[in-house]
Amino acid sequence: MKQRVFSGARPTGRQHIGNYIGAIENYVKLQEKFDCIYCIVDIHALTTIESTSELQQNIFEMTLDWLAAGIDPKKSIVFVQSHVPEVTELFTYLGMVTPLGWLLRVPTFKEKARMQPENINYGLVGYPVLMAADIVLYKSNVVPVGEDQLPHLEMTREIVRRFNFLFGDTFPEPQAKLTNYPLVLGLDGAQKMGKSYGNHIELAATPEETLAGVKTAVTDPARQRRYDKGHPEICNVFSLHKFFNIDRTQEIEVQCRSAEIGCVDCKKLLADGINHALKDFRARRSALAKDPDHIYDVLADGAQRAQKIASETLHEVKTKMGLVRNA
Ligand code: TYM
Repeated sequence: MKQRVFSGARPTGRQHIGNYIGAIENYVKLQEKFDCIYCIVDIHALTTIESTSELQQNIFEMTLDWLAAGIDPKKSIVFVQSHVPEVTELFTYLGMVTPLGWLLRVPTFKEKARMQPENINYGLVGYPVLMAADIVLYKSNVVPVGEDQLPHLEMTREIVRRFNFLFGDTFPEPQAKLTNYPLVLGLDGAQKMGKSYGNHIELAATPEETLAGVKTAVTDPARQRRYDKGHPEICNVFSLHKFFNIDRTQEIEVQCRSAEIGCVDCKKLLADGINHALKDFRARRSALAKDPDHIYDVLADGAQRAQKIASETLHEVKTKMGLVRNA
């Protein structure tokens, strides 16, 4: 039997290049050898958003991005978290074996609490437990994620160990799977790329929007003037060349170090590299967007397939926890 892969992402709408480089690239690759499940985690999104008016549109946009990037619904299950409500029941049970102290120490909880001090809701504290429920409901072995999710993965592993210890061997301990670029910095060069920081470039951006975004990027902080020699090792734009201009990275490095090119030229090269790399993706996305029914069919079919697995696991969990009367 193939090992199972599971990953999820919050429906923040159009995905950005950080999502792609850090995670989606692996979602696509892993389909060849694993049994993959990819989930749009709308319930998780409720822990941070103030308004849900764009939630449905965001789910649609994200599904377009995933399919255009190469997630194949014939090979993989693609579904929306709340369409398989078994996860919320498992979340409740896992909550009973997760000490509160563990959750209050999770760095992402502390950061979210800092970012939204007026809305430190109960769901925010339980976020990693719901994530553990996502993963173990499908008895997943491998979880492709960016580096920022590693503390959550560690928490899942701890919950699994505790559950297995208390109720008998039930879940595998899932392993995180990182890409070669597990942490993509935003255009500000300071924080990770993320929609909430507004420092991102959308995969579906037009070439003009891409260039306009890249132009705002912070470059080598040690280079003041055009004729100063550059330091690619401390330049965030250069780190993106390593992904989007693989063939030209060495040449760009030499030209930057010798001041043959300036930061403006370097950014133009990056925008060209991104636009070239995403040309086919963008064409596929536009084609998919013309048939919304297909997108909704994919999600409905995915939910049905996911639910079959979920209900079996839930029955096993309830039996092990003593919630089912022995026949
Ligand atoms: P989310 O929606 O923040 O991000 C989706 C995926 O994209 C990765 N990512 C990045 N990687 C590198 N650099 C960046 N700047 C960057 N920004 C985002 C994330 O690491 C993630 O892999 N809690 C999760 C969603 C989730 C989940 C799960 C993931 C819920 N249940 C179960 C795996 C398994 C999240 O908020 O991802």
